Amino acid sequence: MPRLAILTAILLLSSLRSSRGQLQVGFYAGLCPRAEDIVRTVVTGAFLNNPSVAPALLRLHFHDCIVDGCDGSILVRTPAGQQENRAFGHQGLRGQSIIDDAKAQLELECPGVVSCADIVALAARDSVVLSNGPFYLVETGRRDGFVSSVVDASVVPEVSDPIEVLLIKFAQKGLTAQDLVVLTAAHTIGTTACFFMTGRLYNFQGTRRPDPSINPMFLGTLQAICPPGGNGNVRLAIDNGSGQFFDAQFFSNIRAGFAVLQSDAALYSHPATRPFVDFYAVDPASFAQDFALAMVKLGRIQRVTAGHVRRVCSSVV
Ligand code: HEM
Repeated sequence: MPRLAILTAILLLSSLRSSRGQLQVGFYAGLCPRAEDIVRTVVTGAFLNNPSVAPALLRLHFHDCIVDGCDGSILVRTPAGQQENRAFGHQGLRGQSIIDDAKAQLELECPGVVSCADIVALAARDSVVLSNGPFYLVETGRRDGFVSSVVDASVVPEVSDPIEVLLIKFAQKGLTAQDLVVLTAAHTIGTTACFFMTGRLYNFQGTRRPDPSINPMFLGTLQAICPPGGNGNVRLAIDNGSGQFFDAQFFSNIRAGFAVLQSDAALYSHPATRPFVDFYAVDPASFAQDFALAMVKLGRIQRVTAGHVRRVCSSVV
């Protein structure tokens, strides 16, 4: 294990020892000893087949946690209705079938023991590691929720949200301005669909002009990939030039006007977030370490105590 990863693991272990919640590192050690190995094997297999599953699974964990806590509710798809995943901000979520695969194997190994929410959290960590990001210990012991409602999903951050709104949405979940910057830098891997770019490229805040924070040398590139009236499902890397690897280029891109998403560019527009962008741009080791810590914090949002362990992740029944 590289030195940075070992250091991160030690730091996290010591910070986790002080936590006295129901969540704990190694929750399944006695109940289902191979649980974490099974998730890792399934995620690794899917990643080797298609590396784009890593950002998909990382995003899935964020979207699960930000609405009603990390309770697996984002996975619910049947019976078809007004579930959480129907919200606009959740569009493009992928990777649910990988969670279903892991769950099916876990049900054979230890039926009714491992929650869907925990599988999502573990899969996110494994995805970070597979993308050359930091290793961290995942607290487990989450319960799956009984509710998955599109109405609750209004708290999901939107690309067009002003920075003040993003700060409030994160604060409502106990996340600081620094957490906002560090966690949003998950965009160091992955892609976006053009339909999330339309406002920024052609009608920024109703001005009928592009977002002025886009570097003029980059604007033409973005507009060529996402032309007006073009196919909104065309995808482009969110971290321009480094979309497959977990690194700190994301911050340099923001500073240079090469951010792709409007909400990423907005991180450089506010005194509460801008200093962190500057700091992490020149200190990748701190970014890796703080990202690991912030992911543990994300995983603790609104812990569901009155839940259960679903047998099938895609259905609450
Ligand atoms: C400021 C709040 C955020 C906003 C507005 C936002 C918005 C978006 C949007 C619009 C996409 C493109 C989705 C698509 O077209 O499929 C995306 C992708 C992604 N987001 Fe975020 N996001 C935010 C924060 C986060 C956080 C905190 C994480 C994780 C900790 C995260 C992880 C990801 C990942 C990994 C992708 C790439 C997904 C893929 O390649 O399929 N995002 N985000």
